[in-house]
Amino acid sequence: MREGVLPHMTRRTFFHTPAAAAAAVPLAAANDKLAIQGGAPVRSAKFPSWPRFNQLEENALLDTLRSGHWGRTTGKRVDQFEDQYARLTGSKHCLATANGTSALIASLNALDIGPGDEVLLSPYTFVATLNVVLLQHALPVFTDTDIETFQMDARGIAQRVSDQSAAIIPVHVGGAPADLDKILPEARKYKLRVIEDACQAHLAEWRGKKVGTLGDCGCFSFQASKNLNSGEGGALITNDEQLMSRAYSFHSNGRAWKADALSLSAYASNGANLRLTDFQAALLMAQMTRIEEQARTREQNAAYLTKMLKSVPGIQPARLADGCTRNAWHLYMLRYDPAAFEGVPRKTFLKALAAEGIPGASGYTPLNKEPFIERVISSRHYRRIYGEARLKLWREKNQCPGNDKLCEQAVWFTQTMLLGPRSDMDQIAEAITKIQRNAGALKALKA
Ligand SMILES: Cc1ncc(COP(=O)(O)O)c(C=O)c1O
Repeated sequence: MREGVLPHMTRRTFFHTPAAAAAAVPLAAANDKLAIQGGAPVRSAKFPSWPRFNQLEENALLDTLRSGHWGRTTGKRVDQFEDQYARLTGSKHCLATANGTSALIASLNALDIGPGDEVLLSPYTFVATLNVVLLQHALPVFTDTDIETFQMDARGIAQRVSDQSAAIIPVHVGGAPADLDKILPEARKYKLRVIEDACQAHLAEWRGKKVGTLGDCGCFSFQASKNLNSGEGGALITNDEQLMSRAYSFHSNGRAWKADALSLSAYASNGANLRLTDFQAALLMAQMTRIEEQARTREQNAAYLTKMLKSVPGIQPARLADGCTRNAWHLYMLRYDPAAFEGVPRKTFLKALAAEGIPGASGYTPLNKEPFIERVISSRHYRRIYGEARLKLWREKNQCPGNDKLCEQAVWFTQTMLLGPRSDMDQIAEAITKIQRNAGALKALKA
């Protein structure tokens, strides 16, 4: 049986207050009105803010400023960060980049993925995973999503692979590793290069190894919302020296790895300028002093929240794949079933949740159905590279029903909501159960 709780009390503190517990039933009736309908919200405090910094970051930035070395062509901080991030992830090499998108672009170029190639990817991801494939004039081939884990469903690979398939980009969505036990053997079987999109998955592990080290390379983002943050920033990690060398050259206007960073001749390849600055590197090294402790807090809170939500009908936290030994918890993801909430649509549920002081999001929409993709693949470039018949087949096969369903059901909480005390998790669970108790009244509200 679900109980009513005083608005600013957690379930636990409430039941440890004998007088309140004795009065549970009348209080529940009096205080259980949903905030969206004029009741008191479960939570009025803000969740922890992001980013976090102190004197360490201030000193690091000032030191960089005063050094006069603001970029890697003369500074040393980017090199230092690369050494530290390689050590943190257990990879042989790290290349810092301007952002996660740049890390993915450098990977595709280093692996020589280009026009005519097909690249398999998950449709449950941020648009950058797709854009980098299109920027190479490669053909993105979406493989469906496993609705339980929110990750790429490896069973779809065999159906979508072709003679032109050159690479696969498994995305560790929300910070939870995709099922690499199933994806990597398929990639080997079909001779696909593997770029792990670990942009959301700092410190996540698959069977004790950091994600990003299991494919040919892994890409990370340090954009402002990420668990490791320098406003913008990114990194590519790899154990493959040749790949590192090629990615380095590509990211620095084609200049050779370990050569004069300012040379004006004898370029190793073509390239772009995708370099990180020394300011970002300095910030990242300061932020990295906190990353482990923050990761542990998120893990503990997420585990507790999952335990709390297990008993709530219609709320299904994303299942972790069997080999996941560490989730980065960039997002806490769950599925919402309106049937267990008297048919209240997800949109209304999220509004009611926000009114209770718990901000949630509905997450991604089906990426494979984004109208801009059709504009790209019907362009003269794509028609010339792939031909009408192949593009027609692509359109027919571009179906991901599991992903479509997931996009209708998903609810996300951000990583910062997992950084506070355990009582915050009590309040998240309490707000959800409060809405469930009052779903009948909520249903009557206009969406
Ligand atoms: C899954 C995924 N891939 C790629 C990116 C791109 O990273 P960035 O924004 O640093 O370019 C992001 C960032 O949001 C992401 O979440």
